[in-house]
Amino acid sequence: MDDEALIKAAIAARNKAYAPYSGFKVGAAILDNLGQVHTGQNVENAAYPNGICAETVAIAIMVQQGGSLISKIAVSGGDGDMLCTPCGGCRQQIREFANGKTLVLIADDSQLKASFTLDALLPNSFGPENLDRSGLFD
Ligand code: THU
Repeated sequence: MDDEALIKAAIAARNKAYAPYSGFKVGAAILDNLGQVHTGQNVENAAYPNGICAETVAIAIMVQQGGSLISKIAVSGGDGDMLCTPCGGCRQQIREFANGKTLVLIADDSQLKASFTLDALLPNSFGPENLDRSGLFD
């Protein structure tokens, strides 16, 4: 799948967002290690802190579908004036299933605006490797 198709999937997901409180719709599309695409959109809540981000939804679906690595992720939000880069919490959630070289494509409501490696968005990150205790129980 090329970048353009992944971005289109993120934009389509964004159009399904439930964001009545912020009015800020976000969509995400993940290409996983099995070649599957998983999409998600933000889902807000009247009890504001219970809202969830688009990336969180897409990651949960990836796991449910058996994907274990994010090969690439596209995020669509805003109208191009400002980049809709993943929030801090989402960067960490992406990190769980990606490495520093994984590309994060940022789009507005119609096209790619920028792309970053995960390392650029979350330098010196903490990930599953930090908790690798293999050998501890040998
Ligand atoms: N949002 C996302 O879905 N992903 C992000 O990475 C940034 C923020 C959502 C959360 C909330 O529903 C709305 O955008 C405004 O913050």
